[in-house]
Amino acid sequence: MESIYSVPKAAIPAVGPTNPIAAYIAAFKASSNTQKMIEAGLQKYDVFRIPLLTRWHIVLSGKRYAEEIKNVQEEVLSFKEAMEEIIDTQYLIGSAAAVTRNASQIDFLARQLGPNLSEMFEALKEEVTLSSAKYIPLSEDWTSIPAYSTIVRMVSQLANCMIVGSPLCRDDGYLDLVTLFLSKYIEARRRKIAYTPAILKGFVARNFTPIPNMVNKTAEYLRPIVEGQQKKSTHSSNDIGDDRSQSQTFVTWLYQEMDAHERTPLRLAQRVLSMNFASIHNSAAVFTNALYELAHEPLYFLALREEIETMVEYHGWTRDAILNMEKLDSCFKESQRMNVLGSISMNRIAMEDYSLSDGTRIPKGAFISVELLAPHQNAAIYPNPGEFRPFRFVKGAENGNANQFAFPNKDYLPFGIGKHACPGRFFASLMLKTLMAHIILTYDIKFEDDGVKPSPHWYGTFRLPNTKAVLQFRRRK
Ligand code: HEM
Repeated sequence: MESIYSVPKAAIPAVGPTNPIAAYIAAFKASSNTQKMIEAGLQKYDVFRIPLLTRWHIVLSGKRYAEEIKNVQEEVLSFKEAMEEIIDTQYLIGSAAAVTRNASQIDFLARQLGPNLSEMFEALKEEVTLSSAKYIPLSEDWTSIPAYSTIVRMVSQLANCMIVGSPLCRDDGYLDLVTLFLSKYIEARRRKIAYTPAILKGFVARNFTPIPNMVNKTAEYLRPIVEGQQKKSTHSSNDIGDDRSQSQTFVTWLYQEMDAHERTPLRLAQRVLSMNFASIHNSAAVFTNALYELAHEPLYFLALREEIETMVEYHGWTRDAILNMEKLDSCFKESQRMNVLGSISMNRIAMEDYSLSDGTRIPKGAFISVELLAPHQNAAIYPNPGEFRPFRFVKGAENGNANQFAFPNKDYLPFGIGKHACPGRFFASLMLKTLMAHIILTYDIKFEDDGVKPSPHWYGTFRLPNTKAVLQFRRRK
């Protein structure tokens, strides 16, 4: 309990009791609805602390501080150390030096993804068609489908089209492994690692969790790709000819850019799993939230169908068509605004004392985050903020000058903002919009329980769409 009280004392007001025992009990009680504490803090303060089971957590008002801390250097407010504290990659996936702190995979992703999106679109489109046909039958009658788990599966195929390419992105064994990885990881961390003394964490992770075995299995799936790359690198570029398809995946960018000792199946597997970790479940949750909104409101669904048809007629099934689907883009953005995936973002650890512009001192070692509930519900920016208005961001509409789905700003923070803003957001936007466009053109959808929108689940600061809800699909009439 020492750590709870060792960081920011009285200077930063606390939500709830500050007495050690009472704070610990409050943290325990609040672990299933931490967002209530955050809402309570926001009523009174711009900066406050809430007790978690292992430490105080400092929350900064998004409205006021997102801009201020967005580009503070890593040596002062560290994103990487915060990630390491939250997910303990060094014990579970492999050495932190290799995956989190030396995150060169993120630089490659940020640099390569943008320029390659157009070329990647054809492959993405093919996976959208194949995964829909496989997981959502084209039946004349309504067919019930468990929404969230099906979407997780489809999104993992699409994300892996970028991460490892085909045919591996369609391999059921591989997809089972990478989609299960996140839940096994979270379980292993929560049950086995989080409360184990640091000196024993590595031992426990290696011997009492399934994670090392999952990393090894992933390495075996990657071995043929690595061998293919090795062969290529021993031939001259003329022999490789025009085959670009194999070079436009995350794993081959890694292979081509990493130091020689990093190009083993095992080291690549660590980074491939960390990219699956970063990409699948949040993308699937964003998609599920938007789909629930549309299944709930058929008029919006039909308006989108009209836009999608018009764009496909004009541009063909191309990336340009997707980029021109303004209503679809706006709908995802509005859904992200309303259906946040958590009440906080922009996690950082203070590596030294840091003073906010109003003089509030964040002490070295403190864990801070920016809350995004208040900015997303700001009526001055979003009139009637509690109402889902899917087309509010279409040019010329009420917030039409605001940026698009994948462009964060201080009033729209689901991707973070600044130097650590999600580097996968443009890919996520393309992937999710392509999948949604295909579904809207191909199927009619409704909830099994007509009209009832299923409520989300909160876990601490995380908010997941309802994972049990069932949607019904049939061939479009
Ligand atoms: C709609 C789905 C997604 C959401 C909501 C999302 C959200 C986020 C957020 C909030 C952050 C942290 C930003 C910060 O703390 O300042 C982040 C980081 C990151 N995201 Fe995403 N993300 C999504 C999809 C993806 C995809 C598809 C990829 C991979 C292609 C990806 C790769 C990453 C990586 C590598 C980081 C770490 C960035 C860094 O270290 O600087 N994300 N994402």
